[in-house]
Amino acid sequence: MPLFNVYPLYDVTPVSGNGVYVYDEKGVEFLDLYGGHAVISIGHAHPKYVKAVTDQVTKLGFYSNAIQNPLQKELADKIEKLSGCKDYELFLCNSGAEANENALKLASFKTGKSRIVAFRNGFHGRTSAAVAATDNPSIIAPINAQQQVTILELNDISGVKAELEKGDVCAVIVEFIQGVGGLDQGTSDFFEQVYALCKANDTMFIADEVQSGYGRSGKFFAFQHYNVTPDIISIAKGMGNGFPIGGILIHPDIEAKFGMLGTTFGGNHLACAAGLSVLNVIEEQKLMDNVNEMSEYFIKLAKTIPQIKNIKGRGLMLGLEFDFEVGDLRKKLIYEHHIFTGGASNKKLLRILPPLTIRKEHINMFFEALIETLAEVEA
Ligand SMILES: Cc1ncc(COP(=O)(O)O)c(C=O)c1O
Repeated sequence: MPLFNVYPLYDVTPVSGNGVYVYDEKGVEFLDLYGGHAVISIGHAHPKYVKAVTDQVTKLGFYSNAIQNPLQKELADKIEKLSGCKDYELFLCNSGAEANENALKLASFKTGKSRIVAFRNGFHGRTSAAVAATDNPSIIAPINAQQQVTILELNDISGVKAELEKGDVCAVIVEFIQGVGGLDQGTSDFFEQVYALCKANDTMFIADEVQSGYGRSGKFFAFQHYNVTPDIISIAKGMGNGFPIGGILIHPDIEAKFGMLGTTFGGNHLACAAGLSVLNVIEEQKLMDNVNEMSEYFIKLAKTIPQIKNIKGRGLMLGLEFDFEVGDLRKKLIYEHHIFTGGASNKKLLRILPPLTIRKEHINMFFEALIETLAEVEA
């Protein structure tokens, strides 16, 4: 049976991983500066993670949400402790799109309204409302296009005001650092005014932290760089270090009633064990401090390279913008230097999303390879 073509494939077959490296079937080592789309937070095959997942699966991998599962409460308490987001409720699911789908659904339940405001170049996932709120017509099927969504330019505060004052908007959904779109960010003023407009117009302010959350921006959540308190926060990628898990944090002002949301697999025992070990490692290894230190070092080196026209993003969610398309550069980095990097909708941008455990020596390796490759591309 042929496989559905999900993405264009590189001809590399990783079969194992360790820290910031993955290895192919011949044992060739690749430096992973992409973390499998920002998923690998604490590094490949972290021993504490492997032990936690192994121990749990030998005891009980799964049971449904119809029984007591104390691991869910432990996970919720740990997220509260590390994020500082007090008194939110946690609903667990399995992916980023599912998290946003539930966030939008809850916003609609809470407000009784149905229109969504989202932003140009935003990406929120592939499911019904999440994909409708994504600014990419080529992935929106007619069934998704029935959703009422208004896409506005980032920083267009008068546009947001005009739309919210019409009174039918249930949610504004925001990536504080755009991922797939190419690492663009709104201004502080913009985010803070959008938040105030949401409050004034009974509209839910949803922070899509699927990619930017879990320490990647240098704070636990990227919205914490601003003076806002989201009504709903969606989380996924870094949460399970590769184990599929997602969720939403629901502000105490929202009375999320029994029956509004539900799931079979969400919050299962194995997912919770994976999620808990990720948070334990983030805390024990002080990975958010490492993110800030490594980010500063990375940006310092990037600034010395004249071909880099713009450095975007924050923490270890960074984009290097060139004045040419980077497809060939990425291929050379993979095939000749064995370094994984990412692309974005902005074809001139190289995306850097390494495990949060990265060290200076790995960053040095990247820049040595980049300088050599840029010289070859130019020759
Ligand atoms: C900001 C953001 N939201 C949502 C999603 C969708 O997540 P998933 O692919 O787990 O459904 C992504 C995936 O790239 C993302 O970057």
